[in-house]
Amino acid sequence: MEICISNELIHLRNDRISYVMGISDEGFVTHLYFGKRLESLNTVNIYRRFGLPESGKITLSGCQLDPSLNGLLLDRVPQEYPSFGLGDNRQGSLTVMQEDGTTTVDLRYVSAIVTEEKPKLSGLPATFGTNKTLLLTLFDALLQLEVELRYTIFDDCDAIARSAVLRNKGKQRLVITNAMSLSLDMPDANYDLLTLSGAWAREREWVRRPLVFGEQSVSTNYGASGHTTSPFLALLTPGTTETQGEVYAASLVYSGNFYAGVEVDRFRKARVRMGLNKDGFAWQLAGGDTFCTPEAVLVYSAHGLDGMSRQFHCICTNHLVRGQYAKAPRPILLNNWEATYFNFNEEKLLKIAQTAADVGIELFVLDDGWFGHRDNDTSSLGDWTTDLRKLPDGLPALSKKIHAMGLKFGLWFEPEMISPDSDLFRTHPDWCIHIDGRPNVESRHQLVLDLSRPEVCQHMYNAVARMLTDAKIDYVKWDMNRNFTCIGSSYLRRDQQMELPHRYMLGLYSVLERLTHDFPHVLFESCAGGGGRFDMGMLHYMPQTWCSDNTDALCRCEIQYDTSLIFPPFAMGAHVSAVPNHQTGRITPISTRGKVAMSGCFGYELDLNKLSADELEEVRKQIRFVKAHRMILLYGDFHRLLSPWEGKDTAWMAVSPDQKQAIFVLVRSHATAYEMPPLVKLQGLHPAFVYKIQETGECYTGAELMQFGLCCPLPDGDVASVSYVLEAVTEGEDQ
Ligand code: DGJ
Repeated sequence: MEICISNELIHLRNDRISYVMGISDEGFVTHLYFGKRLESLNTVNIYRRFGLPESGKITLSGCQLDPSLNGLLLDRVPQEYPSFGLGDNRQGSLTVMQEDGTTTVDLRYVSAIVTEEKPKLSGLPATFGTNKTLLLTLFDALLQLEVELRYTIFDDCDAIARSAVLRNKGKQRLVITNAMSLSLDMPDANYDLLTLSGAWAREREWVRRPLVFGEQSVSTNYGASGHTTSPFLALLTPGTTETQGEVYAASLVYSGNFYAGVEVDRFRKARVRMGLNKDGFAWQLAGGDTFCTPEAVLVYSAHGLDGMSRQFHCICTNHLVRGQYAKAPRPILLNNWEATYFNFNEEKLLKIAQTAADVGIELFVLDDGWFGHRDNDTSSLGDWTTDLRKLPDGLPALSKKIHAMGLKFGLWFEPEMISPDSDLFRTHPDWCIHIDGRPNVESRHQLVLDLSRPEVCQHMYNAVARMLTDAKIDYVKWDMNRNFTCIGSSYLRRDQQMELPHRYMLGLYSVLERLTHDFPHVLFESCAGGGGRFDMGMLHYMPQTWCSDNTDALCRCEIQYDTSLIFPPFAMGAHVSAVPNHQTGRITPISTRGKVAMSGCFGYELDLNKLSADELEEVRKQIRFVKAHRMILLYGDFHRLLSPWEGKDTAWMAVSPDQKQAIFVLVRSHATAYEMPPLVKLQGLHPAFVYKIQETGECYTGAELMQFGLCCPLPDGDVASVSYVLEAVTEGEDQ
């Protein structure tokens, strides 16, 4: 990878992608190209496309330069970080108010330097690794505002990580009302826009639509990235499929309120923007202050959606997830939530745990209800002390007994929340997000702690850290079950109230940074009413996320398939639960439940003692299988093969990096009479290798399996499934 800087061009590239910017005589930084690697670029052609003087001369009053432009020049210039007020009337990336109340920003080029070490993004999660970073400095002389645009290019992933650092170099107080992480001006608008939308228990459904004139976007104002959409978007060239077509996509490394959108202008060009949601946002930047935007990861794929996911998965695996569980096997767990809900005591838990240990499970997780006097969801959040009515010997004693069975012990927390019925609330009623004079709006009978207050963050850290130490906890499920309302803080000044949602995230990230640093052996799993905060920000601290509260195997086919657009299997918590399923009432075979769950961080969420002997034997089989193959299941190259949205079959596969092993899974939603078995074209195999299918003993070349396909007979019945392990038995000539 290299970053070449000349007088007028800056070119970032690795072996496969290029990103090119131009610097005009007047100091405007233009965006010239992003896509497949270019060896050289004649800018005349690009300037001609945008109707610009071919010299690249860009002045503020374009019409004086060339009357035929009929308008302000910046309104048509493709820009790197377009600001408000100088004549670009498209949606901008930066709006800053100075003390006189005006909001125009005029950024001009100052310098471009390359660092070998990626600078830290203060207080925010970000990608890491050995990669070059371009620091492009712009300056507004009137505002005395410096903007440092950061671009990191990776060797192993076709991605560029971008962020902006704003520094007030002057004396006057500035107010930032919009600061995007990423802006990308495309030369045309002939794309489909792909976003993820959904709801609780229906997270991350694909929404694909052609771009139209004007603005189209997804965003949240919940205080979390949310259930209803994800901080992600992709532009797809027309006809793009899993394996063909060009894709330009971005994902934000952030877990709070965000915006991701595209505007198509009057010249039918598209501007992509991604970053903090400017609705409800205003940040005071006093003289000497610095503000960092979250990081956005931009990827390019010349090989359709599969190629796009490959790049995002590469970033998550090699440059985002940290700690000792990164690239390591994840323990097979049993979580008691759907087994008992709040209704448990020590005896009941130990019985479930003993059976779990007997069948080979490695981690027992105690979910909600172990603290305060929490018999339902109406109380006790904030009182993180053991409920001795349920666990009379205390949590450390329970942990000891679980460990004595040979199991690790995990615990549920919802540390960001406070129940009005809690000692914490009675002692500190002002510690929640609220507005004096307005009644608190409860959701799930709870309020949100004000993490802009340092003492609240410290309290939260202490409460969790004490329990992790006292009870020797190996795993934490970190839940978050409501959105923000009445957004106010009695800690912040009047003019800082619109900083609260972002300050909340900074407070949360600081606690997560400390906890993960101080307890490196603990595996953290993020959760927000299921997958309500499944984003690259959380993944930086917690290597897995509970994908959805919906544990129905068929629904999980959709949810996990769609989630895999951005996130690899190792990021997705997936459990086998009881039937009839608690969310849908559906009855599915235990073998199918197992096959779907093993395509993520595998676990169980049921009372094993209620299973029949045959079912328990199937559980043992599943556990043996996952233990033997989990490195491929979690970390192999994941390929989507058949979409649940296009038919009744869902199929995917994971392939080992050396292409010598692969695991294939197919689930059929319902049986139909008088039908041929499905034929599925596999992906990611070596065409010349001969693969033996362990379950049938049959051998095929990779080429056959990818070009003709694999015929997959299924057992009778609804929600039937089949899985195969493929092993390369001979290695052919390299092709
Ligand atoms: C919501 C989570 O998504 C569930 O898995 C469970 O932990 C409950 N919260 C507990 O209240």
